[in-house]
Amino acid sequence: MTAPATPGGPGQPVIELRDVRKEFPGGAMAVDGVSLTVGAGTVFGVVGHSGAGKSTLLRLVNGLEEPTSGSVLVDGQDLSALGERGLRPVRREIGMVFQQFNLFRSRTVLGNVLYPLRLAGLDRAAARARAEETLDFVGLSGHGGRYPEQLSGGQRQRVGIARALTTRPKVLLCDEATSALDPQTTGEVLALLRRVNRELGVTILLITHEMEVVRGLCDRVAVMEEGKVVESGEVYEVFARPRHATTAAFVRSALHSAPCTAPRTGRCWSGCGPATRGGWSPCR
Ligand SMILES: Nc1ncnc2c1ncn2[C@@H]1O[C@H](COP(=O)(O)OP(=O)(O)OP(=O)(O)O)[C@@H](O)[C@H]1O
Ligand SMILES: [Mg+2]
Repeated sequence: MTAPATPGGPGQPVIELRDVRKEFPGGAMAVDGVSLTVGAGTVFGVVGHSGAGKSTLLRLVNGLEEPTSGSVLVDGQDLSALGERGLRPVRREIGMVFQQFNLFRSRTVLGNVLYPLRLAGLDRAAARARAEETLDFVGLSGHGGRYPEQLSGGQRQRVGIARALTTRPKVLLCDEATSALDPQTTGEVLALLRRVNRELGVTILLITHEMEVVRGLCDRVAVMEEGKVVESGEVYEVFARPRHATTAAFVRSALHSAPCTAPRTGRCWSGCGPATRGGWSPCR
């Protein structure tokens, strides 16, 4: 698969939220004054407890929700300045991956991956070739004729990722993409998302309630609580020196669920040091 052109060059903002608020009728302030920037070619994680406003934030980025105030820019374009018609080409640059996969049960794997291409107007032969290439990229070549219920959870999510990628978007939005999966399958899906970022240059905005996912994949992270970003920064920095109590609790949960990374990577986020003899001491 070929990489899409990096919009505006590496590190340039692809997604920008400027003081965005989203208040739902009835008074829920789901997103409350959030500003953040996601650079081209990076993986940005948003972590927070249930109800923190993460899904609403993603829906603001693909224009499914309109902000009550503030602006959302994708690839330099202010979404609120675009009508429904103007949003269509922007949405084509954005792929979406969901926790529950959201596949068509009545379509085959190939049929699911073909669907967005046919919607985009590609002819049948070109769409089929593209869909097969994408299935190959996610490691599912030969599975095109199966139905979703004949697949494991991890395979279904690979189909979800293939369907999101098949139109060659510049941005992938992942809403709890691994939350329905066991730890090993989570690791495999994260490895695939890493390839999507590194090999295809796709910018990823991922939301999760698992800090372990942030550590495994993201360059930067924002921590959300009650609609606000309470802390943000480079993942390594945030793990090494969490400033907010909520961040510290997320970091602790990740450190307690994973072995020391120092033997493999040369450094460990929990701050363990080299043993006097025999390499790294385990951190716990
Ligand atoms: N369409 C809506 N109408 C009214 N309130 C809403 C709507 N969507 C979300 N909310 C409220 O906004 C807040 C944030 O919800 P959101 O779904 O963004 O949280 P979340 O962080 O994704 O949670 P979870 O981790 O459980 O998915 C919640 O209080 C929720 O009840
Ligand atoms: Mg959610």
